[in-house]
Amino acid sequence: MEIITLWRAPTMMLVLLATVVTFLVVPASATLENKTGQLTVFWGRNKNEGSLREACDTGRYTRVIISFLDVYGIGNKYHLDLSGHPVGPTGKDIKHCQSKGIPVSLSIGGFGSHHYSLPTKESALDLFDYLWNAFLGGGSNNNKAVRRPFGDACLDGVDLFLDHHNAAAPTEHYDVLARELAKHNIIRGGSGKPQLHLTATPRCRFPPDGRVKKVLDTGVFERIHVRFYGDDEDCRVYWQELWANWTAAYPYTKVFFGLPAAPEAAVMGYVAPKEIYYSLLPVAQTAANYGGVMLWDWYYDKINDLSSFVAQWA
Ligand SMILES: *[C@@H]1O[C@H](CO)[C@@H](O)[C@H](O)[C@H]1NC(C)=O
Ligand SMILES: *[C@@H]1O[C@H](CO)[C@@H](O)[C@H](O)[C@H]1NC(C)=O
Repeated sequence: MEIITLWRAPTMMLVLLATVVTFLVVPASATLENKTGQLTVFWGRNKNEGSLREACDTGRYTRVIISFLDVYGIGNKYHLDLSGHPVGPTGKDIKHCQSKGIPVSLSIGGFGSHHYSLPTKESALDLFDYLWNAFLGGGSNNNKAVRRPFGDACLDGVDLFLDHHNAAAPTEHYDVLARELAKHNIIRGGSGKPQLHLTATPRCRFPPDGRVKKVLDTGVFERIHVRFYGDDEDCRVYWQELWANWTAAYPYTKVFFGLPAAPEAAVMGYVAPKEIYYSLLPVAQTAANYGGVMLWDWYYDKINDLSSFVAQWA
């Protein structure tokens, strides 16, 4: 016992000294004085991750996005894919998160390539109606008797996660959907109710594909979470230039730095905590419209615990 104690004391001193020295030589650029504390996480892509409530109870996230509504726009068919999570109880968890001040959004789209599209204005308005009545504020005067998967829980926003390349169909009508959602944002805001948060989570490539560009150029988005990871190597190689491009193109929107929560969470793009602190965030936070960090996703964050660092630095 005593031997261990004697041996440990000087070691601890050395560790403390090393810590002090390290922080003394840190350049001023790592003070992260522009941090916003905003950390968003995606939930719903793995049954083994545990409940939405558990994610909110960590106290680390300021927003949670449920993923995905992955079928829409085709023959008025809609499908919510929560990877096997029970849907009913999630309604209670949504309210629990909201009671802790954490807004909960629903992301539409996802990785499946041919199950969603908005080929006509009508399909965009139909999707709006569906989202409004099934997930948003349209619950109380729901004259169309649309089934609400989360019951009377009312989501705080909609996120656009358009992944598949769709160069052949530049005529999609996400702009119609976004404008319609934005209109209802104003109505709800005016009545003193919480806002309807409109966000998008695009791939890092800039400019984005025509479909994504068209919808973002409406200017009605509150936040854009740029995915600096995935199968596109440029996301890591040219991240500084891409970050400059995104933040300059949408000055009235808060731009978030999207990161994988663990090395296994993405094909490419994982950044270790030290590099996030010393290299990535000091650059990201020089942008006036830096919004915070988005982590993909709660399943991998639970394994790797990246948010234990990033929540303090974002
Ligand atoms: C940044 O934007 C410009 C203008 O659209 C483009 O030419 C350039 O390739 C972009 N940079 C990257 C790294 O994509
Ligand atoms: C903080 O943000 C402002 C722009 O809003 C920028 O000019 C300044 O360089 C940033 N500071 C740091 C340390 O990044």
